[in-house]
Amino acid sequence: MPSRLAVLASGRGSNLQAIIDHFDSLARERVAKVVLVASNRADSPALIRAATASIDIANFNAADDGSELLSLLQTFRIDLVVLAGYLKRIQHKVIREYAGRIINIHPALLPAFGGEGMYGARVHEAVIASGAEESGVTVHLVDDEYDRGPIVAQWRVAVDRADTAESLAARVVNVEHAVYPRAVEMVAVLQQLESKRTD
Ligand code: GRF
Repeated sequence: MPSRLAVLASGRGSNLQAIIDHFDSLARERVAKVVLVASNRADSPALIRAATASIDIANFNAADDGSELLSLLQTFRIDLVVLAGYLKRIQHKVIREYAGRIINIHPALLPAFGGEGMYGARVHEAVIASGAEESGVTVHLVDDEYDRGPIVAQWRVAVDRADTAESLAARVVNVEHAVYPRAVEMVAVLQQLESKRTD
């Protein structure tokens, strides 16, 4: 049985699309499938992408103690929660219940250029301002601290002298689209093996 994924997204949802396309392309061989896309923002374009792909969508309150999100995840029997441009902190209640089963992508090489408030263009602006010659992509498990959970995968992206935050962001997000679906797949396989072992 493929792992049941919930993707949480607040924004345009290009990583969501890459994940949907990746698992669709594997058809019967896929180890996971997206069964729910949920957002704290009712106007998130990611929800439109999900609806177009005939995936269930939901809105939840990100300002409560996590009860609403947790009950949504349980209702959909979610195995793995994938954050794709989700900007709020995941409540402790959800992290406790889904320990080791929430995964995030960050558009830089953590632990550098991460932490509260480091998202979107700010990350790439900070990389360029620092004079760093490399940036990249980090996939990590989510714990109670912003951008600090165990790292699952990283990929480097060179910073050109002529880069602006926009041009760097565009190259980084292309790499995200290649790396994230495969990292999600790997975590899903490991999770399936672990749950067989403990059955
Ligand atoms: C990505 O750059 C990701 O690293 C970050 O938020 C952005 C989401 O982009 N967490 P999209 O909504 O998937 O297009």
